[in-house]
Amino acid sequence: MDKITAIRGFKDILPGETEKWAFVEEKAREIFANFGIREIKLPILEKTELFTRGIGETTDIVEKEMYTFRDRGNEYLTLRPEATASVIRAYLEHNMHESEPLTKLFTIGPMFRRERPQKGRFRQFHQINVEIIGQKDPRVDAELMLMLVQFLSAVGLSHLKLEINSLGCPRCRPAFRKTVISFLRGKENGLCPDCRRRLKTNPLRIFDCKVETCREIISSAPVILDFLCDECREHFEKVKEYLTIFGISFEINTKMVRGLDYYTQTAFEVITESPGAQNAVAGGGRYDGLSKELGGEDFPGIGFAIGFERLVSMIPMKKEDFVKHPRLFIAALGEDAQKFAFTLTNKLRMAGIRTEMDLSDKSLKSQMRRSNKLECPYTLIVGQKEIEENKAELRNMEEGTQETVELDNIIERIQLRIRD
Ligand code: HAM
Repeated sequence: MDKITAIRGFKDILPGETEKWAFVEEKAREIFANFGIREIKLPILEKTELFTRGIGETTDIVEKEMYTFRDRGNEYLTLRPEATASVIRAYLEHNMHESEPLTKLFTIGPMFRRERPQKGRFRQFHQINVEIIGQKDPRVDAELMLMLVQFLSAVGLSHLKLEINSLGCPRCRPAFRKTVISFLRGKENGLCPDCRRRLKTNPLRIFDCKVETCREIISSAPVILDFLCDECREHFEKVKEYLTIFGISFEINTKMVRGLDYYTQTAFEVITESPGAQNAVAGGGRYDGLSKELGGEDFPGIGFAIGFERLVSMIPMKKEDFVKHPRLFIAALGEDAQKFAFTLTNKLRMAGIRTEMDLSDKSLKSQMRRSNKLECPYTLIVGQKEIEENKAELRNMEEGTQETVELDNIIERIQLRIRD
């Protein structure tokens, strides 16, 4: 029979990798807690409308990438392609503003987009999302970005570039949109078929196109920052000022529009500066209109998402740095010694000492090899004779030394010698 494999673009995360994931998650929890950000857990399946309305009908995600299906009750459902719309849905559904005017949330989990799989791009991928809802103050924007930079450095990333832009608001953006449309008039033939369509549906999406000819055309397009209204300009100035006060370096990228339609004002991405690979490890921005778009009151919000896979692939530590090797291997020969070892192994584990033993009646030599392979610093050797004499040999594998230990109170004796 044919072997069943995983779906294209969906990948298993194996031991060796999972330890890195746990390390990243622990750091995130630690740092977010310092900033008063609390966890929210959300369903991965939502009503399709949440995303069509939230992300925007004419974005790539909604047009081409969502995993949408009709369930047995004939309802259109979608595997979430991102988390922000869900966070706002939950925020509104549970009236979270009533108990906390400034609500700071994070969520970690899988997202689904049917993109073309390639290096750093999957169809199921994971994100760490942070969303701060209820305040329009530019200090919130700066604080969020400086925390993001701190977090990425804390997990060992370097050569990071923070890029920022302002995308204006419904008051000032239409004028920019109009100017972009007139700028592109007469240049339609140089655009890819998608962008020719975008010109009619959502011209700002053309800034996001990866096709070389489109990029070239858009490179001399008008700049959104020149169209900002006073309020948006002032907000952007303040964000830059607070980032500067904190010593966070950033670059302004006037071409960055982000791939989702809900953004207003501040938009940002963190790019890794490795040549050739212009991959964003994180992206986010302000979305002051989203909660209204989703049927709620007008709550401003800002957030970001970090791509977990991309982040983990950039962590400079090796897999081995994360693996927790057993502290002790029990090499037991003969039935009585094996029984003794079975009990002791599990008692030691319960006492918090990572312990392994052999379960397949191998020779002493092969058990010692196994202990070496597992990189156990100590091996306890017990045979029939040792059981009868109520003692065992404890071998220090690194130093190659050995001592005889009594089996009475053996757990305490081992605990005394083996410390993590
Ligand atoms: P996004 O830019 O679409 O933003 O995704 C954020 C990050 O998720 C990207 O920078 C990238 O690292 C990772 N990512 C996206 N797509 C893939 C993929 N197919 N494979 C692997 N990694 C991927 C959002 O999702 C917004 N919801 C962020 C946000 C939160 N804005 C405000 N709050």
